Amino acid sequence: MRCDRAVDLSYRIKYLSTINREVRMIAIHDIVEKERISKEDLVHLLSIEDEEAVKTLFDIAYRIKGENVGRRVHLRGIIEMSNICVKNCFYCGIRKDNKSVERYTMEEADVLASAEWAYKNGYGSLVLQSGERTDETFVSYVEKLLKKIKKLSRGKLGITISLGEQRADTYRRWFEAGAHRYLLRIETSNKELYRKIHPSDHKFDSRVKALKDLRETGYQVGTGVMIGLPGQTMKDLADDIIFFKENDVDMIGMGPYIPHHQTPMGERIGDFDIHKKRNQLMLGLKMLAVTRIYLKDVNMASTTALEALSPEGRELGLLAGANVVMPNITEVSYKANYTLYDGKPHKNENMDEAISVLEEKIRGLGEDIGFNSWGDSPHFYSRIQG
Ligand code: 5AD
Ligand code: SF4
Repeated sequence: MRCDRAVDLSYRIKYLSTINREVRMIAIHDIVEKERISKEDLVHLLSIEDEEAVKTLFDIAYRIKGENVGRRVHLRGIIEMSNICVKNCFYCGIRKDNKSVERYTMEEADVLASAEWAYKNGYGSLVLQSGERTDETFVSYVEKLLKKIKKLSRGKLGITISLGEQRADTYRRWFEAGAHRYLLRIETSNKELYRKIHPSDHKFDSRVKALKDLRETGYQVGTGVMIGLPGQTMKDLADDIIFFKENDVDMIGMGPYIPHHQTPMGERIGDFDIHKKRNQLMLGLKMLAVTRIYLKDVNMASTTALEALSPEGRELGLLAGANVVMPNITEVSYKANYTLYDGKPHKNENMDEAISVLEEKIRGLGEDIGFNSWGDSPHFYSRIQG
């Protein structure tokens, strides 16, 4: 009798969990179809754990991506021009006070050689990234480079820059020299958390103002956050997505937080084990999916941090709603010193082989590559047309 009861009970539990699962699936579809998705809805979507429900979430995001930005991947070859930084973010491996880093600034000729390679191989655009410097030597070095890259590609290479917080006149100089997109991550939209992960001279409000200045200068503006920061909640992540919308950004570059052992935050966090890595990866992917569902027509990158957590991270990001990939085309001798977090891939690869492998992988997903085009964010055009 007892035994029958136990069987009966386990059957009921199984039955109830099937119903629960169906209810959860219906809830996802209901939320996505809503005219106005609320913050609670975003938290609900981000908190989904059940494997099948997560898959449903990714499938929906993938459909929405196809409808709004197409199943085409845009490539931006990223050049990490310099790892010298005047800032001291508590999470970043190239922060000013990390004395173990061998600092470099790429020779102009090396940057131009990478740009030329990108141009010849049909990459529609470049990202120039570096640590933050605001001195005139650096500002004019970048200005000259931008002009030369425009010239060597006869104006055809699009240029995104990701060079930190600058004065409004610097943004203008670089815009006039040929950059037309700017990436500046807000890192987190939670002011209190922002304060905790930065020294006191790093101001959240200046960062928000910088995004406004960039937009007024005429750039297509990108921002993003780190996902899975210590102390960050699902509500914070939902607020991040709302922040993207309220600031009407054109592009998103965000990825999982990964500790760096020579940073104040990396030292505190201890072991970053397989379990933790998997959670960070899943959270990063869910964040991409929910952002795609909420913002629809922005360009969104599948970032290197995903790749650092899984060899398939980049492809998984595309399947969760991203539509931009930024292969690192920095010359190998510089690459290893641009270590923002532990385990950042510094593939010592042949770039010509890498591009055909990438192409194959992307085609394997049923997508194609937008060669020889800038691949601007559709959101930018709908924004400027009002
Ligand atoms: N983990 C993940 N991303 C990081 N970044 C810096 N340090 C880390 C880290 N430990 C990101 C920041 C910055 C971008 C250049 O790199 O978001 O804006
Ligand atoms: Fe410098 Fe950017 Fe790293 Fe902060 S995150 S220390 S600004 S490179």
